Amino acid sequence: MVDSVNESSALRFLVTAGPTREFIDPIRFISNRSSGKMGYAVAEAAHAVSSHVTLVSGPAELSRPKGVEFVAVTTAQEMADAVLSRFDYCDVGIMVAAVCDFRPKEIATHKIKKTKFCKTLELEPTIDILAELGRRKKHQMLVGFAAETENAEANALDKLQRKHLDLIVANDARAFESDTNVVTLITQKGKPQRLPAMSKEAVAAAIIQRVLELRR
Ligand code: CTP
Repeated sequence: MVDSVNESSALRFLVTAGPTREFIDPIRFISNRSSGKMGYAVAEAAHAVSSHVTLVSGPAELSRPKGVEFVAVTTAQEMADAVLSRFDYCDVGIMVAAVCDFRPKEIATHKIKKTKFCKTLELEPTIDILAELGRRKKHQMLVGFAAETENAEANALDKLQRKHLDLIVANDARAFESDTNVVTLITQKGKPQRLPAMSKEAVAAAIIQRVLELRR
């Protein structure tokens, strides 16, 4: 136990959290219901075993975890820039953020007046940060989340393989805004580990524990 703690204290963790915002004009944006609680809990659980933790967070009304390098971002592109520029120097990437998959193709410079508002909004895909990390990874361990409303384990397994992950956390999309979560931890090999409903802090501790086991 002492050895694993000493070993883990040198590990460099890179964690994302919260939603992103994709602007339509200076006032309006597209976003999602993510509170950031799960990602902040993961950063704190990582900090309990390592002093090298960076949290890249979208807008969240939460206190910044103490002792953790904190990078505030707003859009998916800003999150991608912050994460990709730090990835080479990390050992474990845990992408918890609910990144917007689409953004408006054009951002109006001035507030769009309601008389000028058109009925449709043209969207384009944002960068899939986790998939890009999966393409770039060398020594790093990569952990993703899969928020699903149906076929959670099958969809998560598909994401694990498609994005070249070491571990994926399948969670029920109802966990958004909640203090608890029901998750299944899925790896490339071995049986899925189904955890009972528990606090996001307890889920985060279980994820970090699993990461440390996989690194051994
Ligand atoms: N993710 C990411 N960049 C994106 C979208 C998602 O890094 N543009 C990451 C999330 O942080 C999460 C994982 O990918 O770790 C899965 O996100 P999820 O929204 O469940 O899946 P998607 O890949 O977006 O697929 P789909 O929306 O089809 O379920």
